[in-house]
Amino acid sequence: MPEYEFPYRNPALPIEQRVDDLLKRMTLEEKVDQLMQITIGADTNPNNLGSGHSFRPTIGSVLSYCGSTRNRNAFQRLAVEETRLGIPIIWGFDVIHGWRTAFPIPLAQACSWNPDIVEAGCRVAARESYAEGVDWTFSPMLDVPHDPRWGRVMEGYGEDPLAAGIFGAAAVRGYQGEDPSQPGTVAACLKHFVGYAASEAGHDYAYTDISSRTLHETYLPPFQAAVEAGAMTLMSSFNDITGTPAVANHYTLTEVLRDRWHFRGFVVSDWDGVVQLAHQGYTTNPAEMCRAALSAGNDMEMNSSAYRNIPTLIESGRLKIEVVDEAVRRVLRIKFAKGLFEHPYHEEVDPGTVSLQPEALELSRAAARASMVLLKNEKNTLPLNPDTLRSIALIGPVATDREASAGAWPAIIDPKTIPTLQEVLPSFFPKSEIHYAPGCDYTSDSTEHFAEAIAAAEKSDLVIVAIGEGAGRTGENRSYTNIALPGKQLELLRKIAAVGRPVVLLVSSGRPILYPELEPLANAILHIWECGHGAAAGCCDILTGAYNPSGRLAITFPRSVGQIPIYYNHHPRARDEKAEWGGRYFDLDDSPMYPFGYGLSYTSYEYSDLEISVEDLTAQVTLRNTGKRAGRETVFWYLSDPEAKLTQPLRRLIAFEQVDLAPGEERRLTLQLDRMHDLAYIDPTGKKVFEPGRFILSVGGEKAEFVVAE
Ligand code: BGC
Repeated sequence: MPEYEFPYRNPALPIEQRVDDLLKRMTLEEKVDQLMQITIGADTNPNNLGSGHSFRPTIGSVLSYCGSTRNRNAFQRLAVEETRLGIPIIWGFDVIHGWRTAFPIPLAQACSWNPDIVEAGCRVAARESYAEGVDWTFSPMLDVPHDPRWGRVMEGYGEDPLAAGIFGAAAVRGYQGEDPSQPGTVAACLKHFVGYAASEAGHDYAYTDISSRTLHETYLPPFQAAVEAGAMTLMSSFNDITGTPAVANHYTLTEVLRDRWHFRGFVVSDWDGVVQLAHQGYTTNPAEMCRAALSAGNDMEMNSSAYRNIPTLIESGRLKIEVVDEAVRRVLRIKFAKGLFEHPYHEEVDPGTVSLQPEALELSRAAARASMVLLKNEKNTLPLNPDTLRSIALIGPVATDREASAGAWPAIIDPKTIPTLQEVLPSFFPKSEIHYAPGCDYTSDSTEHFAEAIAAAEKSDLVIVAIGEGAGRTGENRSYTNIALPGKQLELLRKIAAVGRPVVLLVSSGRPILYPELEPLANAILHIWECGHGAAAGCCDILTGAYNPSGRLAITFPRSVGQIPIYYNHHPRARDEKAEWGGRYFDLDDSPMYPFGYGLSYTSYEYSDLEISVEDLTAQVTLRNTGKRAGRETVFWYLSDPEAKLTQPLRRLIAFEQVDLAPGEERRLTLQLDRMHDLAYIDPTGKKVFEPGRFILSVGGEKAEFVVAE
């Protein structure tokens, strides 16, 4: 048995015992440092202004990518070997949709409806980022947006709380692995807790007016699901929640997160979130900011230094040492659980041997094609036949844009390593002549290259127009009142459509965009999002039919900005919303352009014979592939509760599953319903309430009503 200088160093002891032992040896100064996160060097988040801090080895956490594991280890050595207690630093960084291997942006991944894809991508991101010194990623984002003007829609998993929780849990499993103490894993951080997506009018960092009901019904559930999956940390959000900013919100951070959900990890603020309490009109006194945040349950302060006031607050009796100890305890608990005391250094390997490996790139391609959504396919324009197409015009700025595929918030993803459509297309269509012309760029008013693009279209059998938002139009602090494609792209499409060749439109974006004017100009439309390394090949897999598109929208696409907020699980009106006097808009078709769950396939499916057995609460439906190709169908099960003391949304998703079917194949699917999980609603205190009565289950156009008694 090895001898340990102090019990906390002994890995054989239970974590709580090690934490207690270490805590009692710490000075107040050392405790304060454990609750602070500094930035050294450059952060890759352009919204985080100000220069980095100077390093101190007693600090709890550093937000940095040090450029190499060697640099990171050198700093870590100062903490572990040159400080009194040798507490390792936890190194945090934003790894949003991949480290060097880029995966689709999270919103796109959600459209795959495949949690295994999310989990596998996060596992790769963990392995790659760990190899370059990261212990902790600020991901996944579980905000539930209803407003695509808000640029951060790209970072989350869409508008449904159940889906966001399922994908969030998958991300946690991917990042943290089975045993988060092992090398090659990173701690997950669920963000932004909570309600940040409710930012007024799509602004970023804005006030959020959230009723208790909406908080519990819409914004909290994804976090609860991912906490239950074992997430080690959370990040409190920037928003002011109905008068009490999230970073100082005792109700959400303590009463809900700790008292009800029994979360035992720690909470970090968002960048400068503690000192931003001044802007929010809460307090301008740094000591008061510190007291408010810490005693609400925000354990670590990111970037700013209000927590330096802890000793003064203790001295003056305004803060109890027990509050500080509890926060430090949570940070240390995660450091032990993360294995940092046993593995403070990461192995110094050549990143090239870990990152951008063939299996990871293949996974990115599989994720890309599963995430893209076929929105239109008039007269089976797609798939294309590479044997008969003599020539293809490839037009538009997306065709050569590596950054559009790298996606919003690429962190250290190097766009130069990402293949473009222009490079990849010829290998999928070896017999076709390909005429490329950009036509225009994303934003300028210039039409000087239109003629070239028209000429390319004229000499081709078919035109692929690849247009989009362009990199950097979504993400943090990227709010737009106009979510139509910028610049002259619509005009370019009009000119190309006028040539009269079949048009396949590919649209890249990080948010829902406006389609009404684009839609009539194309024979087929594939929404390709921002899908990482596999974007171009994944897209070609769909164009050629090697992959039958299976993506379905995880967020509603409106017809007009005037319809926002728009989301599928809204509440019924006092009058039938389909009726003429049902409160419709008079200047616009009330329905979304493309609803939540929408997406076409090269085959067709039929649902029939929905039956519900009330005795054992099971539902069954037959699903048949009625087309000529094998396909993967996502089955969405919705519940409506048309009579409730607390009125319920028109419908809400209670389960989804994916089924692979050969042509002509049929399957009887079963859903086991659970009273509390599926039929109960969440009341404004967060309690699940089961009200006996009438319910309606719907799946793929089938509907069945049933009554469940007491
Ligand atoms: C963002 C967070 C991010 C942090 C660190 C903030 O501005 O809101 O999502 O993790 O910066 O980069």
